[in-house]
Amino acid sequence: MAVDLLLGLQWGDEGKGKIVDVLTRNYDIIARFQGGPNAGHTLEFDGIKHVLRTIPSGIFHDKAINLIGNGVVIDPVVFAKELEGLEQFKIDYRAKMVISRKAHLILPTHRLLDAASEAAKGKAKIGSTLKGIGPTYMDKTGRNGIRVGDIELDGWKEKYRALANKHEAMIAFYNVDVQYDLAEMETEFFESIELLKELQFIDSEEYLRQALKNGKTILAEGAQGSLLDIDFGTYPFVTSSNTTAAGACTGLGIAPSRIKEVYGIFKAYTTRVGSGPFPTELFDEVGEDMARIGNEFGAVTGRARRCGWLDLVALKYTCEINGVTQLMMMKGDILSGFSSLKVCTAYKYKGKTIEHLPFNIEDENVTPIYTEMKGWKEDLTKMTETSQFPKELNDYIAFLEKELEIPIKVVSVGPDRTQTIHR
Ligand code: GDP
Ligand code: IMO
Ligand code: MG
Repeated sequence: MAVDLLLGLQWGDEGKGKIVDVLTRNYDIIARFQGGPNAGHTLEFDGIKHVLRTIPSGIFHDKAINLIGNGVVIDPVVFAKELEGLEQFKIDYRAKMVISRKAHLILPTHRLLDAASEAAKGKAKIGSTLKGIGPTYMDKTGRNGIRVGDIELDGWKEKYRALANKHEAMIAFYNVDVQYDLAEMETEFFESIELLKELQFIDSEEYLRQALKNGKTILAEGAQGSLLDIDFGTYPFVTSSNTTAAGACTGLGIAPSRIKEVYGIFKAYTTRVGSGPFPTELFDEVGEDMARIGNEFGAVTGRARRCGWLDLVALKYTCEINGVTQLMMMKGDILSGFSSLKVCTAYKYKGKTIEHLPFNIEDENVTPIYTEMKGWKEDLTKMTETSQFPKELNDYIAFLEKELEIPIKVVSVGPDRTQTIHR
């Protein structure tokens, strides 16, 4: 059988968690392949809202196995809290979750290094979620990291101590004000490690190989969004992993030839949290309305998300890089009541009109060129089928499909599992 892949096409928070939850009934295994607790994936059903950080978004279903792949970075402390949150829902995570031995661990000092690095950058800071993501991936590529499989071995604590000591020296080198009590952080860390050890560790690439051989269906769940990709995103204002399709191959050990459908998730407008360029960002009342109506506050940090119009130049770029086969448009309901809608179809760049994403997309380099469309007034949140859609929404969707040359197969009209319309 093949592997399907689900990715965010913008700067994250597109609604990946919701859609993975909706799609889980079609799959045997849901596999996270990169990122870590910088992610906040929201699921809503039966009047309850859940926010997942490291745990794959298929965990609330009875049958699916939820796999945390080698490309993910795990903070045992955050992870333990997540597990605690599942207790009240009687989720048998010991049976339904498996973790790659090759996944790297986020240490307490990685979190401190993240804070020190951001403080040292001052105004140029990335706007990191401060979960230790960057420093952990640096240790991974620097070949110093500690992996889940290490904690099954004797002597790993010596390796830990040496790395933590090195980190402390690095924190001092930054010469910024980062207050911490490492002993306290370590107590929590080692307690959480004991809890982590109760879960099933696996050689995940072999596990997935066997699963494919036995005809199991697999959905790979991405975190963040393609514009935050370490290679193809708005560097340096990105995260430290490959959030694009290739990341699923390296983050799970799956061959490219195994990937079938690539579901690309995007919001009907654009948001971004943290620093970095955002050509279609709005600084006026329209942007404020989007943020308020869309409740655009980070699921992890609570930070206000910056809002703006849909950017088709960026979206075309991410569709291409990922080889998207089907699109899913989220939060269409938020645009109800906007008298006119703008969609960016090209940039003015160095005096020329261009339709591709250039190297520099800062405000001083690009000016978005918009196509304006009529908005719709109707409330979409109670709609259950496409025949109820207002004409203006159909026009909006048709325009995007024509420009992107990929079908929009799902339109999401609210946060709940049930507010999902298939086309
Ligand atoms: P993720 O990180 O991609 O999983 O997305 P987040 O959970 O960080 O952010 C998406 C937010 O939008 C969450 O609060 C969701 O509950 C909410 N959401 C998802 N789809 C829709 C939708 O179609 N309409 C509305 N109004 N909210 C949605
Ligand atoms: P989900 O999976 C939105 C952003 C941060 C910051 C940059 C680097 O919920 O869509 P990091 O902590 O990775 O060093 O931060 O990336 N960022 C996200 N923005 N959604 C996310 O995840 C994000 N994960 C990281 O705000 O700008
Ligand atoms: Mg999120």
